[in-house]
Amino acid sequence: MFKWANFFVREEVERDILSPNGQIKCHFSLNGGKISYAVFKNDKPILSPSKLGFLICGEEPLGENLKLIRSEHRKHTEDIELPWGEDRYIPNNYTETAFYLAEKRPPNRIFTLRFRVFDNGVAFRYEIPPQPKFSQITIKDELTEFNVDLNSIAWHIPAYQPDRYEYNYEKTTVYDLAHPVHTPLTVRTPNGYYLSIHEAALYNYGSMTIKLNPRQALQSDITPLSDFTKAHVLLPFQTPWRLIMVASSAIELTTNRLIYALNDPPEQDFSWVKTLKFIGIWWAMYVGEWTWAPGERHGATTDHAKEYIDAAVRLGISGLLIEGWNEGWEGNWLENGIHNKFTITTSDFDLPAVTRYAKSKNIEIVGHHETVGFIDNYESQLEAAYNYYAANNIHYIKTGYAGSMMLINGRREYHHSQLGVNHYQKTVELAAKKHICLDIHEPIKGTGIERTWPNLLSREGARGQEYEGGAISPSHACFLPYTRLLSGGMDYTPGILDLTNSVKRMSTTLARQLAYFVTIYSGMQMAADRPYIYEDRFPKEFEFIRTVPTNFSKTLPLAGEIGEYYIVARRDHDSRDWYLGGITNESSRRVYIRLDFLDDGVYAADLYCDSDDAHYRENPFGISITHKKVGRSDTLDLYLAPGGGFAIRLQRL
Ligand code: NOJ
Repeated sequence: MFKWANFFVREEVERDILSPNGQIKCHFSLNGGKISYAVFKNDKPILSPSKLGFLICGEEPLGENLKLIRSEHRKHTEDIELPWGEDRYIPNNYTETAFYLAEKRPPNRIFTLRFRVFDNGVAFRYEIPPQPKFSQITIKDELTEFNVDLNSIAWHIPAYQPDRYEYNYEKTTVYDLAHPVHTPLTVRTPNGYYLSIHEAALYNYGSMTIKLNPRQALQSDITPLSDFTKAHVLLPFQTPWRLIMVASSAIELTTNRLIYALNDPPEQDFSWVKTLKFIGIWWAMYVGEWTWAPGERHGATTDHAKEYIDAAVRLGISGLLIEGWNEGWEGNWLENGIHNKFTITTSDFDLPAVTRYAKSKNIEIVGHHETVGFIDNYESQLEAAYNYYAANNIHYIKTGYAGSMMLINGRREYHHSQLGVNHYQKTVELAAKKHICLDIHEPIKGTGIERTWPNLLSREGARGQEYEGGAISPSHACFLPYTRLLSGGMDYTPGILDLTNSVKRMSTTLARQLAYFVTIYSGMQMAADRPYIYEDRFPKEFEFIRTVPTNFSKTLPLAGEIGEYYIVARRDHDSRDWYLGGITNESSRRVYIRLDFLDDGVYAADLYCDSDDAHYRENPFGISITHKKVGRSDTLDLYLAPGGGFAIRLQRL
């Protein structure tokens, strides 16, 4: 590994940092005491000079009157192996330069700016060491800019809204960004590059949203605390990595895995973590057959749980989620979250009996904690609640944080504030201690910490299928691979085959529900409909849901455009089988897939495609299921109906 250090104090600096293949360039400058950076791909500008620095409460701004004390440069080459996910191996190859900066005048504070330049992106973070009279700081604002051309197109969801990340994507020019938006923020520059502005390794800090600042540059807007500051931190402190993923096409962007490369490897043994497919006492509540709250239609009863365990066995599914089992979930539950008890069951639900039965049938129970954002209430029971589940042989928990704000220390805080971030982290770490995996709904967005905490198997964090019945259109899931899914897997609750239910009508075809198991990765993947729908009405379609893996060794993005369509192939982690999925928006389309990524040999192909007359509104059940033998010299010719899709299993014979 090549490394050099430069010890000459400099007041003016212009320095290029080139990615390993030389295509991405980050230009750092120190000029008139101020620092900035710019990014280029193939010498074409991606980010124009962008300012850096902080406002700190009770102190001078940090980022002015600077000189460079020294810099350090190194190269790093590594392949990371992840235990589960979309790709088993992730390249972590970069050129790193750390700039050690100091103020030229009192208070002479120091900090480091560390850049990593990859072939598919640029990341940097601020590192502030402890120093005399500067050991504890309150960040008033972070002034990091991402200065893209104002004519760029951006795909975004609004920040600081009551439904957190659960909004439909909008497409505007950057110039027209009227309000702060969440990251990952996907952008297409006028010179044709695709970027995603995001962050990695978000710990102990407010989550970064992005806004247009008065000089019309995109700038970090850190989610505030209720005291209007952004974070209270003890030094040493490092910010999350500020990350700009870069690609030449929208489809290339979808497999950018830099968030994982920028996180640390785990420090403890996680060999016990296993991905999971599960059904749930769940959708029956959404369509009004059962209720979360106790009463004559209560879903989480001992009898229902045992029936669903038997169904899971018959269906060949390994897990069962049970929601609404605990005391306190009654009346106006969004207001009543303070009453939720996480170790006391309703009188019609015998948790130990259910988990004993599940164990005897080899079914994993997925426990559920709906906190409704009442964090004080939840944290006061946290240790006991996780112990209770662990003692009852429960290794998976779905958590929920419904409600527009959290209640922390008696104050209303944003889910995505420093205190919210720290709460989610506390649950992940406690769960790891108890050998429990999490699927967090209403989560903090993914920033790759699953690399360090692989027991965090999934999150929601966007509109999922519970918004069907009017609030999402077929284009929604076609935005996700290019936006939300750049922050990691998602529990989209796929596999709802009762498409024309009068309470929740789906905006998809049947084949598309199967496609979701491939197009939307989740380490905990739910087959979300009721078991009788699978067994009585769609046993042939369910065969795909039963066999599709929840862990893949390789993902090949094949074709797509943001909000229009997405076609992907994934190789099973544990075999030579491949799974293909495709989805389209309201427009039908035909795609041709060359199978040249397969190994030599013959594959048995099971194809679940839209029929020629399928249509998400007119004929959602129109499906054509065919079987044939294929090899790597074949090309598949596939039709996707409006709001449709396809799912294909290629089993190596
Ligand atoms: C919203 C979650 O997304 C959903 O999955 C859950 O069932 C409800 N909250 C109740 O917790």
